Amino acid sequence: MPMASSSLCFISLLCFLLCHGALKLQASHHVYTAQASRLLLHHYEQPYRTSYHFQPPKNWINDPNGPMIYKGIYHLFYQYNPKGATWGNIVWAHSTSTDLINWKPHDHAIYPSQPSDINGCWSGSATILPGEKPAILYTGINPKNQQVQNLALPKNLSDPYLREWVKSPNNPLMAPTPQNRINSSSFRDPTTAWLGHDGQWRVIIGSKIDARGLAIMFRSKDFVRWDQVDHPLHYADGTGMWECPDFFPVAKNGRAGIDTSVNGGHVKHVLKVSLDDTKHDHYTVGTYDLKKDIYVPDKESTEGYTGLRYDYGKYYASKTFFDGQKKRRVLWGWVNESSSVDDDMKKGWSGVQAIPRAVWLDASGKQLIQWPIAEIQKLRKDKIKLRNKVVKKGSIIAVKGVTAAQADVEVSFKVKSFKKAQRLKAEWKDPQLACSRMGAAAMGGVGPFGLLVLASKDLEEYTSVFFRVFKGQDKYVVLMCSDQSRSSLNANNDKTTYGAFLDVDPVRENISLRSLIDHSIVESFGSKGKACITARVYPKLAMGDKAGLYAFNNGTERVTITKLSAWSMKKAQIS
Ligand SMILES: *[C@@H]1O[C@H](CO)[C@@H](O)[C@H](O)[C@H]1NC(C)=O
Ligand SMILES: *[C@@H]1O[C@H](CO)[C@@H](O)[C@H](O)[C@H]1NC(C)=O
Ligand SMILES: *[C@@H]1O[C@H](CO)[C@@H](O)[C@H](O)[C@H]1NC(C)=O
Ligand SMILES: *[C@@H]1O[C@H](CO)[C@@H](O)[C@H](O)[C@H]1NC(C)=O
Ligand SMILES: *[C@@H]1O[C@H](CO)[C@@H](O)[C@H](O)[C@H]1NC(C)=O
Repeated sequence: MPMASSSLCFISLLCFLLCHGALKLQASHHVYTAQASRLLLHHYEQPYRTSYHFQPPKNWINDPNGPMIYKGIYHLFYQYNPKGATWGNIVWAHSTSTDLINWKPHDHAIYPSQPSDINGCWSGSATILPGEKPAILYTGINPKNQQVQNLALPKNLSDPYLREWVKSPNNPLMAPTPQNRINSSSFRDPTTAWLGHDGQWRVIIGSKIDARGLAIMFRSKDFVRWDQVDHPLHYADGTGMWECPDFFPVAKNGRAGIDTSVNGGHVKHVLKVSLDDTKHDHYTVGTYDLKKDIYVPDKESTEGYTGLRYDYGKYYASKTFFDGQKKRRVLWGWVNESSSVDDDMKKGWSGVQAIPRAVWLDASGKQLIQWPIAEIQKLRKDKIKLRNKVVKKGSIIAVKGVTAAQADVEVSFKVKSFKKAQRLKAEWKDPQLACSRMGAAAMGGVGPFGLLVLASKDLEEYTSVFFRVFKGQDKYVVLMCSDQSRSSLNANNDKTTYGAFLDVDPVRENISLRSLIDHSIVESFGSKGKACITARVYPKLAMGDKAGLYAFNNGTERVTITKLSAWSMKKAQIS
């Protein structure tokens, strides 16, 4: 069995690393101390720090790296600048959790220490090798500033926190050469590897040739010697550099997650790429053709800038892992700031991780469904309920009794009549454009109706998350928007309005929305996770206990709130 031989090899490599003491951790790479963060908080008011989203006490973070579960402990590594609130000096910071909500920080796991990563330890993924042995592949930046791929293994497999990592003396394992003609500035972010039927591991790495985005594939028997496969797993012209690819199977039926190496008639595959040119995470649904060793997107699954996105707001460099304990696939994604660099430096930090989402294939087979992991509900308290409330044109209903700056809201609307639905104009094919042309303040036929979150008392400030229903060719078209144009009196923020089309039939289904609100982030899930929009906002008035929550309708047709539930959210233990 190739499995046995690869695990034997793994053991001898580990032994080699340990016995020959290849690399030692340095004492300087310690986590931020609680004292340092208290000092920091003391010096600057921090109204925009989140209470239940993952973020370290200070400094810059970006991509989630190597998420996994090991011996019942969840691991999150992430790109981190130990020295400031802007990108640079990148190391792998490390935290662990038993519930994906409360986190415990550890020393940096991976940081520059050998020629193959001396100029940076960039993104990568974890693979659990046979015998429950985690391995990390990551991109290192070498002294020539070339991007190469490296391996790191846990020093002590009995430590469930996997606090220390040992780098392979064989690094780099994959590198650009004159022969392979890989562009050394466009070769990064190895995925979780998967085992093929031939017993060989496969991994893909994001790249490009001119404007063609591609997923370069390597194969290995022992996880140490990797050979480039003569063809990429997949490529698409005109999509630019592919960062942080993620490739995984999803069940055709049901919500259960599937381990990365599984293939067969009961699964479809998903390829997600982070498009460097537009900074959005796009995915297609398709088939992994084992014979040809290529991925083939379904015909109706569009590639590139107009294809499906995990999130139609801010969400990038995301990565999934298979949670064998709860039999689900969990998605992590980085959400950057919408504030100015000056403001980021003043507040001393930049970037948060979105609430982890469970992902599965929609019954249509055409798209994924994403939903906040169930554990987040542990933070809910003080439930507020509204039932069967008619919302007429122009009305605004206050939802009182929750801490509106730190809340979880679920609302469901029923539209009774579509008579006044407007026609969808051809130029509104781009949902973001449609939403920015018609914000919450533009009255309509059916909609806008939805929520006003992080709203100040006299509505000088609010972020509106809402729906509009249009008459399309042969069916109604539902548009979901997150309008930040009035989110803050501070003019220096990026207030782009975001939009997405929702694949629902409003005649047969109620239109639902869930928003996770956490001081400066609003994560919204339309129709039970068919479309997600994440926004960053920095109100000057609607901060802390000055923030309000409302439901509204600015359409001519009345709508009914069939059900609204809102909870105050407790603070998570994060740092
Ligand atoms: C490995 O980790 C276990 C559990 O934390 C600990 O008891 C043991 O001392 C560690 N071994 C070494 C060599 O550090
Ligand atoms: C390699 O990638 C870099 C970064 O995107 C780009 O500037 C350069 O033109 C590429 N080189 C070639 C030969 O394609
Ligand atoms: C981060 O946010 C800015 C401004 O809001 C945006 O222009 C940029 O593309 C984002 N970067 C990434 C990597 O998401
Ligand atoms: C509803 O529309 C009116 C008229 O355009 C506008 O003044 C008001 O601000 C809108 N309400 C919301 C919540 O945007
Ligand atoms: C929509 O809401 C109404 C009122 O609560 C409920 O009776 C109905 O079952 C809901 N429809 C769907 C499809 O969930």
